[in-house]
Amino acid sequence: MPHLELKNVGLTYEGKMGNVVALSDVNLTVDPGEFVALLGPSGCGKTTLLMLIAGLLKRSQGEVMIAGKTVRGPGPDRSVVFQEAGLLPWRSVVRNVEFGLEMRPRGQRQDLRARALHYVEMVGLRAFANHHPGQLSGGMKQRVNLARALVANPELLLMDEPFAALDAQTRDMMAVELLSIWERDKKTVIFVTHSLEEAVFLSDRVVVMSRRPGRIKEVVPIDLPRPRDYDTRATAQFAEYRGYLWSLIKAEAEAAEEESLTVAGSNSA
Ligand SMILES: Nc1ncnc2c1ncn2[C@@H]1O[C@H](COP(=O)(O)OP(=O)(O)OP(=O)(O)O)[C@@H](O)[C@H]1O
Ligand SMILES: [Mg+2]
Repeated sequence: MPHLELKNVGLTYEGKMGNVVALSDVNLTVDPGEFVALLGPSGCGKTTLLMLIAGLLKRSQGEVMIAGKTVRGPGPDRSVVFQEAGLLPWRSVVRNVEFGLEMRPRGQRQDLRARALHYVEMVGLRAFANHHPGQLSGGMKQRVNLARALVANPELLLMDEPFAALDAQTRDMMAVELLSIWERDKKTVIFVTHSLEEAVFLSDRVVVMSRRPGRIKEVVPIDLPRPRDYDTRATAQFAEYRGYLWSLIKAEAEAAEEESLTVAGSNSA
């Protein structure tokens, strides 16, 4: 059975300024343990799609199913990693990670501290377990964010540009780390990114979206051998995938940029 099924999914935001059709006719099936990247220009509905899967937004059309059941709200089987780490500044690293378990019913909260520490260690922050977010670098905060999502042991990990705020080197390191966690725990991952390299490096398939309304333009399988490491990025095959993805999103990205320049221009006028 597929882990995730999207059938003719559509979402329209209704507002005072009019309606925005954010997603239309989205169809996608994701197998258990698959790593899928969502790639597309700003405003194509990537975050919206992730929120629908998380159960934090309600679809306007179609069906979102997880393990054969219709999604009706958030659940402990799914964790979301947002772009902003959103840590609680008054809590230490380990207590921020514990927060990932505190939403659970009381009966499922045994060994809170031990489980939190296990994930703190996994993301390489054991020496910082008792530090507070204000004492951490951006990359370290993002690791805490990842640990907080993993501690709940979700089957489905939904990640919205989790590494966007990081410098290029830390970002590459986090990607390698994420893959090793994924390979060990075999979770299903939906990973939103604007980076072509990140999409190719991480994924089994890249879902390329187009906008107005947000739709799936093409699904590109990435047949690079695993495990992948830094050398993977230097192969000709990697460059080929990257080039192909760029050819798919180039026109969209340019249109989006032109539009935002036009809007910016009309605002300043
Ligand atoms: N709460 C909202 N109310 C009205 N329109 C919204 C709302 N949230 C998003 N939108 C619109 O829906 C569309 C999709 O937005 P979404 O945030 O899903 O895009 P995205 O692909 O995640 O973009 P980005 O890459 O910039 O994060 C956009 O046109 C956006 O303006
Ligand atoms: Mg977004």
